[in-house]
Amino acid sequence: MGTDGQDMTITPTCAPASSSGSSGADTASPHAPAIAPPGLKGLVVADTTVGDVRGAEGFFHYRQYSAVELASTRSFEDVWHLLLFGRLPDPSERRAFMAASAARRTLPPAVLAALPSIAASGAGPMTQLSAGLAVAGGAMGLRPMLDVDEVDRLDDAVGLVAVVPTVVAALHRLGNGLAPIEPDSSLGHAADYLRMLTGTPPDEARARALDTYLVLTADHGFNASTFTGRVIASTGADLGACVVGALGALSGPLHGGAPSRALDLLDEIGDPGRAEAVVERHIARGERIMGFGHAVYVGEDPRSVLLSDVASDLGGDRAELARVTEAAVVDVLARLRPDRDLRTNVEFYAGVVMERCGIPRDLFTSTFAVSRTAGWSAHALEQAATRRLIRPSARYIGPAPSAPVPTREGR
Ligand SMILES: CC(C)(COP(=O)(O)OP(=O)(O)OC[C@H]1O[C@@H](n2cnc3c(N)ncnc32)[C@H](O)[C@@H]1OP(=O)(O)O)[C@@H](O)C(=O)NCCC(=O)NCCS
Repeated sequence: MGTDGQDMTITPTCAPASSSGSSGADTASPHAPAIAPPGLKGLVVADTTVGDVRGAEGFFHYRQYSAVELASTRSFEDVWHLLLFGRLPDPSERRAFMAASAARRTLPPAVLAALPSIAASGAGPMTQLSAGLAVAGGAMGLRPMLDVDEVDRLDDAVGLVAVVPTVVAALHRLGNGLAPIEPDSSLGHAADYLRMLTGTPPDEARARALDTYLVLTADHGFNASTFTGRVIASTGADLGACVVGALGALSGPLHGGAPSRALDLLDEIGDPGRAEAVVERHIARGERIMGFGHAVYVGEDPRSVLLSDVASDLGGDRAELARVTEAAVVDVLARLRPDRDLRTNVEFYAGVVMERCGIPRDLFTSTFAVSRTAGWSAHALEQAATRRLIRPSARYIGPAPSAPVPTREGR
């Protein structure tokens, strides 16, 4: 790979394209491009200093620090600073960043004016958030990153990440016939999000719980939405376009679009005494247990381990039911499917924590976006700095060209 991080690195172990069904592509040509594995799985397509996931070790990091350690000891603002500026803030940088980012939670008047029609559109929360952030990017005057220097790009990123909780909360309230609540710059990002959503400042425990969740979900390797954002950044587009594109990818159920399904399972179980029987029924039918399993982590998902503790600290029946259900799934799998050793993933306890913080179920994915916008922005800025377009190829497998164009019939 080149030092600019953008040469597509095709591993020598890549399987050649299957010829079945390939009628038109010249795969035999010595000049044919290499074929990437399905889903680009295992293929390195960029260099990054933002962070990484080591699935086999159950470890992920932001820059050079363990993300779990950051979540246990630092605020979202510290980690937001780390992701964008490449270092944790010192005390005076922290004070300055807290003040500057909090001030920028306030929405420009043009955005406030547009939100009621977006909220009345009948679209889902993620579509509404995309529309709201597209308007916010325009109102902030975001310019194509190709035309903007690094200082201004960073400034744009701080401003865009700052407005996400305000837009999510305002759209939610408008959709429920309530007036949006102005940000309070004396509060941290997590606490103010909950206040703007519910109308009441959260207690210390809930504010800290959500802060931990935001840190844990701010970035996670080269996932689908991050890659989407980087592809858009590679075109030189403005940061708003990158974030709105990434939101589209995040909205899919295979990525971030189904975090409430683990809670649906807890609803179905209802009583801890029923956990074993309900889980056994699902597993016997060959169904997937929501909130279990992960494509990258082989054993424990470190986000789930910490969120399980956060849920226990917050207390409540749900946390207890979740713990009993987790144990039931592990037991039933060991009995019925010893070949399938599944552990909880980030979604299992995230739903419990968010519910306990007073976040409605239909805003779980939008809340994920409140933090992930920081990771997307760091990646988009890193990509934009390379000034290289990501432009892979596809293998044509349709009917062989050039067939004669049929004579047009009728008018
Ligand atoms: C997250 C997930 C998509 C990762 O999957 P993966 O590691 O790529 O594995 P696959 O989807 O290829 O599944 C491999 C096998 O394990 C099974 N499996 C995977 N997760 C399972 C689960 N949660 N419950 C029961 N079986 C599961 C699959 O059914 C499949 O079985 P098969 O080979 O008999 O068809 C998968 O674990 C899943 O669907 N989990 C439930 C949904 C969820 O919690 N999503 C949030 C992810 S953060």
